[in-house]
Amino acid sequence: MTRRLRVVLTGFGSVGRSLVKVIVSKRDLLAMKYRLRVDVVAVVDSKGTALKTEGFSDYELMKLCELPRSGVRMFEPYALDYVDMNHVYDETQPDVHAELTPSNYASGEPGSSNVLNAVRQGIHVVLANKAPLALRFSDVMSLALVKGVAVKFRATVMGGTPLIDTLTSMRSYEIVRVEGILNATTNFVLTKMHEELTDFREALGRAQALGVAEVDPSLDVEGVDAAAKLVILSNVVGRPVTLDKVYRESILDMPISEVVKALNHGNVIKHIARLDLRDGQASVRVDALPKTDPLARVGGTLNGVRVRTDVGELMLIGKGGGGFETAHSVLDDLLSIALRGDVSAR
Ligand SMILES: NC(=O)c1ccc[n+]([C@@H]2O[C@H](COP(=O)([O-])OP(=O)(O)OC[C@H]3O[C@@H](n4cnc5c(N)ncnc54)[C@H](OP(=O)(O)O)[C@@H]3O)[C@@H](O)[C@H]2O)c1
Repeated sequence: MTRRLRVVLTGFGSVGRSLVKVIVSKRDLLAMKYRLRVDVVAVVDSKGTALKTEGFSDYELMKLCELPRSGVRMFEPYALDYVDMNHVYDETQPDVHAELTPSNYASGEPGSSNVLNAVRQGIHVVLANKAPLALRFSDVMSLALVKGVAVKFRATVMGGTPLIDTLTSMRSYEIVRVEGILNATTNFVLTKMHEELTDFREALGRAQALGVAEVDPSLDVEGVDAAAKLVILSNVVGRPVTLDKVYRESILDMPISEVVKALNHGNVIKHIARLDLRDGQASVRVDALPKTDPLARVGGTLNGVRVRTDVGELMLIGKGGGGFETAHSVLDDLLSIALRGDVSAR
């Protein structure tokens, strides 16, 4: 018998649309490998909702992806021109809520309310949105424990690479330090500055033209995004820090002369997020690393993390984000929930 996983998506931008496409493209693989069908029963953006209790067909899912931003309210006959998550849950009875709205570190909304509401109603949650966990990790996890639901969030840090799963699996290790490059935008900008000796503004403009940097890149260049990821990692490894306690240095308008100076000394400048578990200090700093350091060689939009333990060191290098890479992480989390056996055969 085929198991069915009924999923509601909030946020239908780059990650949401990629997730829908990945679900469609992996349909046969999931059926063959796990006898599992992932049904998208509702899609929600900032202006409206499209819901279908029995799940959208693959054709309908691809049509949804053709809609413009804020367009799901146009998806007749399944459209609503408002967002009411309780109504969505009542109509669709989902197994999982995938939270893919923007990471808003000022208020955490709408992600925090979405996540807490879903958990309160006994619905499993998968997040790519970092803010609810960066701001309210213990609230979310304690409620999830009480309610007996899973909250999975592999996509929030190193979206395209299984860092969180790796750290979670290291149960008998004493993790001493986690450090690395957690933001693709700043790494791209710094790499351009080193390789082409372009100044900060030109490198940032290049990143924006390629869609690597947002129109407003402040959360990235000021280290807020990396700090939020560090907060999530700190909770994963059991030494929680809060966002306001992460020391941050910005790379905004870093002069090219600093890059030249570093290069002349055999160094490379990197924006390094670091969590030291011995003293609980967390920081995002502009560091000059020797060229021979493996982190110094992590270039472009790649992320890289070094984990120091009582047993030894390991390095993980891979994609930090990107719609499709992140969507695969979200899908893996959905599958791990489905394969836990919490989802009944229907
Ligand atoms: N992109 C990546 O590579 C990546 C990697 C790791 C993690 N993430 C995280 O994943 C999340 C999604 O990223 P993204 O790149 O897909 O963002 P995005 O392209 O900006 O899409 C965000 C989506 O959220 C919707 N939204 C905004 N406010 C909403 C609200 N109040 N209720 C319902 N929906 C709302 C937007 O609606 P409209 O269409 O109406 O504007 C849009 O569909 C973010 O938290 C991001 O930090 C992204």
